[in-house]
Amino acid sequence: MPQLQRRAQSSAESVFARMSRLAAQYGAVNLGQGFPSDTPPAFLLEAARRSIGTLDQYSPPAGLPSLREAIGADLGVDGADIVVTSGATEALNVLALSLYGPNEGSLPDQVLMLEPVFDVYVPQARLAGAEPVTVPMNLDAAGWSLDMAALRSAVTERTRAILLNSPFNPTGTVFSRSELQEIVALARSNDLWLISDEVYDELYFGERPTSLRELAPERTFTVGSAGKRLEATGWRVGWIACPTGLASQIAGIRQQGSFCTPVPLQAAVAAALPIARAEGFYERLRAEYGERKNMLVGGLRELGAGVYEPSGTYFLTAQHPAWQAETLVQTHGVAVIPGQAFYAFHAPPAGLLRFAFCKSRAEIERALGQLATSQTTDSHEVV
Ligand SMILES: Cc1ncc(COP(=O)(O)O)c(C=O)c1O
Repeated sequence: MPQLQRRAQSSAESVFARMSRLAAQYGAVNLGQGFPSDTPPAFLLEAARRSIGTLDQYSPPAGLPSLREAIGADLGVDGADIVVTSGATEALNVLALSLYGPNEGSLPDQVLMLEPVFDVYVPQARLAGAEPVTVPMNLDAAGWSLDMAALRSAVTERTRAILLNSPFNPTGTVFSRSELQEIVALARSNDLWLISDEVYDELYFGERPTSLRELAPERTFTVGSAGKRLEATGWRVGWIACPTGLASQIAGIRQQGSFCTPVPLQAAVAAALPIARAEGFYERLRAEYGERKNMLVGGLRELGAGVYEPSGTYFLTAQHPAWQAETLVQTHGVAVIPGQAFYAFHAPPAGLLRFAFCKSRAEIERALGQLATSQTTDSHEVV
């Protein structure tokens, strides 16, 4: 029998898929994988129904012109600088293939990222032939913080890019303008690309996050996701806002993957983006998720967990001495993501768990109830 290439042999089921599978198997509440329980807004669904049967053939690889214009208008960027992708996941992969790689006869390019790290960043860098290098975030009683000195000292002659995520999954951190200014200064002095994963750009609980592109338009690629913004993660519509003049080359790499993103869904997102903005959809989303966050933060604290309150995203991280992800799903019916899912090189903080609160209030209540029962059971077991 022929063998699979080594890179395929080493690619295993992700922890996210595994926890969703275990949640289904044990009938657990799924506070693991980050997909919402709510249905997408009616204005999006109706637009998709209208598009099927009228827009059924290929679009250009860079995307349907109406969608590039709509994304550009929403971000305050020229539509010509937008490349539409099949989700932010593909956007990140296209950028990995476009910005760094192996170097014949010498060592590969390096890309810097922070740890905890979203699960696709490290394998995508490796598949592109580059070397991922992570800098751990600090965690203490006050919460997560960026170690700027460590980031600075991680830059080498081989560094090509810094890949950032703000609002940050899983920590919920929103980097301040002055932190981003320091990162931009570092990128400028070392001539690095900046990849800014902003899929949670509309999910914040304080001040609106600064978009890195505002500070360094000449070197920033911004990644976005209609799936995250419009509660339709299965639609796989994402985008890259490129520095001026680079979109056609990025689209050239993008066309070697899925060629183009399903066209009726591109058209639906094109119609929905201005409606979402005009009708205050994101404000309602933030208000609703803010309440669910407060419910989960309060409930977990009552159960004795140490909770790091997020400033953005629909995730929070927490620690509890008696909780462990495998046991929680199997015996207590609550699926969460273990901290090690976000650590590729460094050790995760002990007992770190990620909880998603893009789930219904009923699911969050049920999960808290089951965690409370688990504590009673655990204390009986100890006695
Ligand atoms: C930080 C981050 N980037 C990218 C993605 C992928 O987004 P998409 O579903 O649009 O591929 C996710 C999904 O959870 C994410 O959390």
